[in-house]
Amino acid sequence: MSDQTLTGSSAPPDEALLGRIRESLRVDGYAYLGPMLSENEVSVLRDAMKRKWHDEAIREDEAGDHIRRNSMMRMFEYDRSFRDLIVHEPFPTIAEAILGDDCHLMSQNALYNEPGVGGGWHLDDVCQYPLPDDTDGHDADCPPPCTVLQIFTPLTDVDTEDRAPTQVVPGSHLAGRKPPSGEDNPTFRDRGPVSILAKAGDAYCFNNQVWHRGPVNTTDEPRLLAGATYSRRILAQRFYPFIDYQMPEHVWDGAGPRLQRFLGRHEKGAYG
Ligand SMILES: [Fe+2]
Repeated sequence: MSDQTLTGSSAPPDEALLGRIRESLRVDGYAYLGPMLSENEVSVLRDAMKRKWHDEAIREDEAGDHIRRNSMMRMFEYDRSFRDLIVHEPFPTIAEAILGDDCHLMSQNALYNEPGVGGGWHLDDVCQYPLPDDTDGHDADCPPPCTVLQIFTPLTDVDTEDRAPTQVVPGSHLAGRKPPSGEDNPTFRDRGPVSILAKAGDAYCFNNQVWHRGPVNTTDEPRLLAGATYSRRILAQRFYPFIDYQMPEHVWDGAGPRLQRFLGRHEKGAYG
């Protein structure tokens, strides 16, 4: 990877850096952000993930806090460190720059991939701006807006190819379709997969429409990814079990106005 470090600090990014992140997201659909978390922050987040992962009540129940048994949901409820990660700079400032000042946390899932576990090429949820199959994709000079921004902070080193780092197909957020099924090396506009090599505590972000995958973990250790998923306000938050979800009181303890807004305490808007 060239030009990996964009910010490399826990301060809000200045306008110049935000401009580079915007440009990377516009052209490539993803951006590598550099080292963001201290060793201590990584270890606190990792401990929280492991605690939750080994909580049998959460793992065994079909309606428990997991998706397909490798993604743990609503981490902000479980540990203060995850809640505070939502407003850990530069993440909230980047989210607001891309998604608007009234954006919010759409979800906060942490990925725990045991050895032998991984996934295929996909974009997250639906293809938001589909095009007919015989078209070449969206105009790169006039891309559809990014509505969901995924920020990942690996808590284990994924800094070599054999540690199975996240891979993306640069520019594929413009494809207007899902990646072709069954293909190991999909390309879009002559660009093939790129690995985002990262140390524990680094961060990277991507438009949820870019083709990506977490390859099968071929190491002997679990691969842990923390982070947050932000969306425009017009997209509803996804806190299972949805209409029946009640934010636990402890989540609000000491939460400032910005964090409260990210958690969904909005001012009235056009639709309420
Ligand atoms: Fe994904």
